[in-house]
Amino acid sequence: MEVDGFYKDHWTKYPLEIQGVLDHLLEIFPEGVGGRRVLDAGSGSGMVSVAFALLGADVTGVDITDQCVQNGYKNANRFNVDCRFLKRNLISLDLEDEKFDIIYSWGVLHHTEDAKASFRSLAKHLKSNGDMIIAVYLKTGISRFWNFSRIFYQKAPEKFKSIFLEGGSRILDFVDIFNRLLLKKQRYMMRGTDNYEIINDWFGVPHRTFHTYEEVFRWFEENGMDCVLVNPATGRFKSTSNFVVRGKKRE
Ligand SMILES: C[S@@+](CC[C@H](N)C(=O)[O-])C[C@H]1O[C@@H](n2cnc3c(N)ncnc32)[C@H](O)[C@@H]1O
Repeated sequence: MEVDGFYKDHWTKYPLEIQGVLDHLLEIFPEGVGGRRVLDAGSGSGMVSVAFALLGADVTGVDITDQCVQNGYKNANRFNVDCRFLKRNLISLDLEDEKFDIIYSWGVLHHTEDAKASFRSLAKHLKSNGDMIIAVYLKTGISRFWNFSRIFYQKAPEKFKSIFLEGGSRILDFVDIFNRLLLKKQRYMMRGTDNYEIINDWFGVPHRTFHTYEEVFRWFEENGMDCVLVNPATGRFKSTSNFVVRGKKRE
């Protein structure tokens, strides 16, 4: 199965937790984003595009999956904002000579066939002094194990998959309750999905790579940007986390 085939059934059917996304964006851009041109690369449900637009940005979302493009428009209508959504593959992104003030790509590059090449094709569309924010899977000592278990899962009978997804999502629900009640940890942003879908995404996705901090810092450097590590690990567990890096294009 191709990545676009996978995401047509997933990542598109949950209600948007828009307030969490607005808070997330205002944390990254406390100065606001009003009037800035934003490219949401791998826009998924479209909820980040919608949140940027609610904050006054001029937004383009691109995604390889037709259903994500349609869903983006549906959600923009629901929130009564204007956004443009286009079907594009990040590896061969063709937006002619369009340039953006902000490029935001969360949880996407590691699902493309070549994360570094996709990064390069995005960076070409960033204005001087523009900001690029990406989140990609962190490579750890057990990344190989995760990839092995993903291949095993994908070959398993459907019955096993559904038991695994049900059981796994109940365990994560429990971890979330424990974190919230006993450790007083906030539930982190669900990005338009739930624990069942998170596990399905983790094991079912056809293509996934893991990356080190140094590797990603080099991508920024090679594409003319200074960068900082914003968050070393976003998830419940380091080995299943994204990390977030923010770059600024030099003049
Ligand atoms: C895990 S979802 C993340 C969605 C969104 N960025 C978010 O954080 O809510 C990954 C998204 O990347 C898209 N995607 C995967 N490979 C892509 C590619 N080569 N080009 C464009 N989009 C891609 C998928 O269709 C899916 O919508």
